[in-house]
Amino acid sequence: AETLGASAAESGRYFGAAIAPNFLGEEGYANTLNAEFNSIVAENAMKWDATEPSPGQFNFTGGDQLVAYAEDHGMAVRGHTLVWHAQQPTWAQGLQGQALHDAMTTHIAGVAGHYQGKISSWDVVNEAFEWDGSRRQSNLQIQLGDKWIEDAFRAADAADPDARLCYNDYGTDGVNAKSDAIYDMVVDFQARGVPIDCVGFQTHLGSDSDLGSYQQNLQRFADLGVDVEITELDVGGSGSAQANVFRTVTEACLAVDRCTGITVWGITDKYSWRGEETPLLFDANYQKKEAYEAVLDAL
Ligand code: XIL
Repeated sequence: AETLGASAAESGRYFGAAIAPNFLGEEGYANTLNAEFNSIVAENAMKWDATEPSPGQFNFTGGDQLVAYAEDHGMAVRGHTLVWHAQQPTWAQGLQGQALHDAMTTHIAGVAGHYQGKISSWDVVNEAFEWDGSRRQSNLQIQLGDKWIEDAFRAADAADPDARLCYNDYGTDGVNAKSDAIYDMVVDFQARGVPIDCVGFQTHLGSDSDLGSYQQNLQRFADLGVDVEITELDVGGSGSAQANVFRTVTEACLAVDRCTGITVWGITDKYSWRGEETPLLFDANYQKKEAYEAVLDAL
């Protein structure tokens, strides 16, 4: 097929992009999105600070706009993210003990409940591990201990039983101490009946990233019986070095049956969170880059 979304669909997968609602009115942005992608995720609009600016007071304006857009255009919606150490509202950052636990579960119930039935998969918990495989010492971890992650998954399952529930992280682009720790967590959750359906691999890379065990790592998670998703792909650099990394990631996903799709973290280099690194598939004028051709070719 001739577009990313249609090519991915040929093998039953999606090809998505992270989207900001305020750019949807820009012609090049919307045209590229509509032509090439069949899944979206909110780059920021569904995060805790955006959706619950004060305790128990929810604001779904941006997220609802994206969900409506996706419905109009026949696109799936990934949910990102229910619980994360970053982009928490100020009021939540200072909570302690049971108050933080209750705020977390109220937040999950409010957001996942609001979008119930509309989200293909939720990043329930984002970035909870360090490089060495230990737990990140976030306010959640310090206040609530190890159990906060499974409590978040149980709350998400109660709020939206049909959404697939993912753990999502970066630096898991191979078999390493961090991906080992996440692997062990999945094994433990499955043994104890904690609901988890998928693992998201953010895949923020550079043109020199070592992907020697990338596919093997996806496969070992898939072999546990969870789906794997490439959730935030971008690759710093340009030209064929950049294109080759995109190709390797795409081929790895295609080679793993349970790799259900790929999301790139933005459409155009113009709006990438990585500033001048030009890590996306379309340049600042929405022209297709060499990396685009490599991905399309690999799909
Ligand atoms: C980033 C957004 O792209 C930026 O606009 C925002 O200022 C900070 O967050 N890992 C994640 C994403 O899970 O939510 C982050 O998104 C990028 C790193």
